[in-house]
Amino acid sequence: MKKFYVETWGCQMNELDSQRMTGLMMEQGILPTREVKEADLILLNSCSIREKAAQKAYSRLGEYRLLKKDNPELLIGFCGCVAQQEGEKALKRVPDLDFVMGPARVGELPTIVEQRRRFGKRVVATGFPEASQRQYDFDALAREGTFKGMVTIIEGCNKKCTFCIVPQTRGPEQSRPMDDILAEVQHLVSYGFREIELLGQTVNHWRDPQTDVDFAVLLDRVATMPGVERLRFVTSYPRDFTQDMVDQFGRHANICPYLHLPVQSGSNRILKLMGRGYDVELYYDLVERIRRVRPGIALSTDLIVGFPGETDEDFQATLKLVEDIRYGSFYAFKYSPRPGTAAPRLKVDAVAPEVADRRLQELFALQQSIQSEINRGLVGETFDTLVTNWGKRPGTQTGRTPCHRLIHFPYGDAPFELGSTTQVTVEEGLPHSLVGRPVAA
Ligand code: SAH
Ligand code: F3S
Repeated sequence: MKKFYVETWGCQMNELDSQRMTGLMMEQGILPTREVKEADLILLNSCSIREKAAQKAYSRLGEYRLLKKDNPELLIGFCGCVAQQEGEKALKRVPDLDFVMGPARVGELPTIVEQRRRFGKRVVATGFPEASQRQYDFDALAREGTFKGMVTIIEGCNKKCTFCIVPQTRGPEQSRPMDDILAEVQHLVSYGFREIELLGQTVNHWRDPQTDVDFAVLLDRVATMPGVERLRFVTSYPRDFTQDMVDQFGRHANICPYLHLPVQSGSNRILKLMGRGYDVELYYDLVERIRRVRPGIALSTDLIVGFPGETDEDFQATLKLVEDIRYGSFYAFKYSPRPGTAAPRLKVDAVAPEVADRRLQELFALQQSIQSEINRGLVGETFDTLVTNWGKRPGTQTGRTPCHRLIHFPYGDAPFELGSTTQVTVEEGLPHSLVGRPVAA
């Protein structure tokens, strides 16, 4: 029996792409395996957002090609954002690599594999076909795990953040038609998915290509579909978040009280160098308006420290922002220069790596204490909890609160069905999760 193995690095779009690859191969009658040694097809879905992405990918491909000694049938496919960037080069550099496939070409996977198996052709499928030319079969998608159905609504990105490689690897922005999106959500709901997550690099920049209605309208339409219990979306771009979108939080209880709103820096000078197109004042104002319609919403963010030209004062401004906003969680990264982006060419001084490291540690320490405080403050509250998994300890399960916090709880006499919702009262707040007790138990 033929089997395939997928390794996934990076963001949710990559996760979804891997689910698509999995679905497409399963449609061909090939089964997924968790054991790379059993595989006749290995797909490496790479990520190029930060440092040493290419080296990391090539070294993994190097490990994989050794497996060909024991299994001459084995095919290795290089996929994802590093593959998009490397293209033909990858075939030269890795002599027994079988094909290269960029993120916009996932739908072609079965054909690419067949080209290799039957005709010996090493296909390089990179670049960005028009949306209408792309193959997207949402039926052939192996959705995994947590009762969350991810739905891409907008591909690529047209922003020009000076640090970011995404516009190169995922191509220009293209919105999917509203009808396609609604059909996919309907399909997911009918299969029992409780939670819908709309995806895009600038998800709130979506516009229907036919009617030009915006993301606020789409949110409204999806939120009112019967069966959509929880609706979330990532990633929102602060400048594109209109009052209409804010208002949707007030209108629909099933839009989750959780919002990822990357700010990147608390210093206007750095935001300008980053080319983000908003200032801290806009960000504070937006957060205030969101919290007015949805008090208790959990916010999360992305931050970069050590961006070229970042002074101590700039960094202090970031610390202040983090203290003021009080995020429920965050992702913080040390700046890493990416080829072909504008930031490395800015006429400012680079930040010494040890300084950037120290700043990152300081930021993590601050956030850790804020998160502990917030989570301790939730003790005594009861949340509708979507039961998503088994706990590590016997007799326990884990779930997600509407604000997307991980919560551990003992299930009592009988476990809850995975995918069901139950009320859990918080008894303890840890820095990265909650511990609670089901009301029913
Ligand atoms: N579309 C999203 C970001 C996508 S990239 C947005 O609007 O913000 C995900 C995160 O990776 C970014 O928010 C940023 O914090 C981080 N990142 C991107 N490029 C980076 C780089 N060159 N160095 C360090 N972090 C980076
Ligand atoms: Fe990257 Fe900025 Fe787009 S961070 S993904 S260029 S919004």
